[in-house]
Amino acid sequence: MSKTILVTGGAGFIGSHLVRLLVNKYIDYKIINLDKLTYAGNLANLKDIENKPNYEFVKGDIVDATFINELFTKYKFDSVIHLAAESHVDKSISNPLEFVMTNVIGTVNLLNAAKVSWVKPTTKNEQLTTNRFYHVSTDEVYGSLGETGLFTESTSYDPHSPYSASKASSDHFVRAYHDTYGLDIVISNCSNNYGSCHFPEKLIPLSIYNIKNNKAIPIYGKGENIRDWLFVEDHARAIDVIFHNAKSGSTYNIGGHNEWTNIDLIRLLCNIMDKKLNRVEGTSAQLITYVKDRAGHDLRYAIDSSKLQNDLAWKPSLQFEEGLEKTVDWYLSNEEWLNNVTSGDYQKYYQEQYVKRF
Ligand code: NAD
Ligand code: DAU
Repeated sequence: MSKTILVTGGAGFIGSHLVRLLVNKYIDYKIINLDKLTYAGNLANLKDIENKPNYEFVKGDIVDATFINELFTKYKFDSVIHLAAESHVDKSISNPLEFVMTNVIGTVNLLNAAKVSWVKPTTKNEQLTTNRFYHVSTDEVYGSLGETGLFTESTSYDPHSPYSASKASSDHFVRAYHDTYGLDIVISNCSNNYGSCHFPEKLIPLSIYNIKNNKAIPIYGKGENIRDWLFVEDHARAIDVIFHNAKSGSTYNIGGHNEWTNIDLIRLLCNIMDKKLNRVEGTSAQLITYVKDRAGHDLRYAIDSSKLQNDLAWKPSLQFEEGLEKTVDWYLSNEEWLNNVTSGDYQKYYQEQYVKRF
């Protein structure tokens, strides 16, 4: 094996797409997927690759520093791609501390272990290690835009939710380990992802589930908030390109140039669902229900990804309508996945399988 790469959070939504891409594309890499299997982690997302010789799953918590240090000693990782996080804004509003623990302390534990493994006493500040620490972050660290403008890599951080504050904090720590200890780091900040295996607490999969089951679709406030949507497999491709080609210490914004108000997106989704479920046009839209707004709800996110497009020749591969239809098709033909995650059955089954630490 030419490289051993630790991917954290690989059983989650984006992590599982990235792990699949890396395992299938780089057969000479060994990919170690470290995941705590919280409610958001689901090994069913990786069923198709679980027996590949260059893939291994380890159950563990990034908040446990002793465990993380032991893991680095055992596997001698060449690089880390860090995705493990608490990722849901609404959950961060009701339980901020959990977000500080995983997103901040967990990240610092990984940085410390990487520093101990990779930065030798002889390493000078200006002489970077060649082992890469790639931190996967979010556009939410930049705060909220007005009607115009885009987030660029030099936009100042201005997080508003406990989730985005914890991600901003972790980004700062990652940069500090580069500037202080000479760790080779890269950070990417991505917009809203959509696609298969997305946990149905987030807007798109929750709405698909509710429409399918004739339940209300909750729209926060007036539905006028804007998000920039990117197909999850395009995000995974961007991480691959950045991981292999970016300059140490650099940041890349990743986005779809695809802004939608929540209400327009849900209307489009309702039309697609009506067609797929052979319902009379307009049936699903009757489920739209305006509810109390999210506290501190950011109005608009929109990413300028021209640096990534110009430097590394990446671009989104799908039009939103096509990607959304593909996503709906996946959920409708993976009823078992959806029923398991909504009932919680998947956790019982997979967690029992991995009681050993590693
Ligand atoms: P997710 O919630 O679907 O998955 C997170 C994964 O991390 C889960 O498998 C979970 O079990 C694991 N995890 C959580 N706490 C852990 C801990 N203490 N130790 C080990 N594993 C733990 O999240 P996602 O949507 O796939 O997001 C992945 C990363 O990408 C996050 O860092 C998130 O901030 C970032 N991001 C997400 C989006 C998006 O639209 N979903 C956009 C930009 C950036
Ligand atoms: O921008 C990147 C971020 O996108 C990621 O960093 C986060 O991990 C990810 O969860 C996502 O955050 P959002 O808060 O934008 O995603 P969510 O799907 O929760 O909400 C999308 C929009 O829809 C937001 O404006 C809130 C609104 N919404 C959400 C839910 C769950 C509703 O109107 N109703 C809902 O039921």
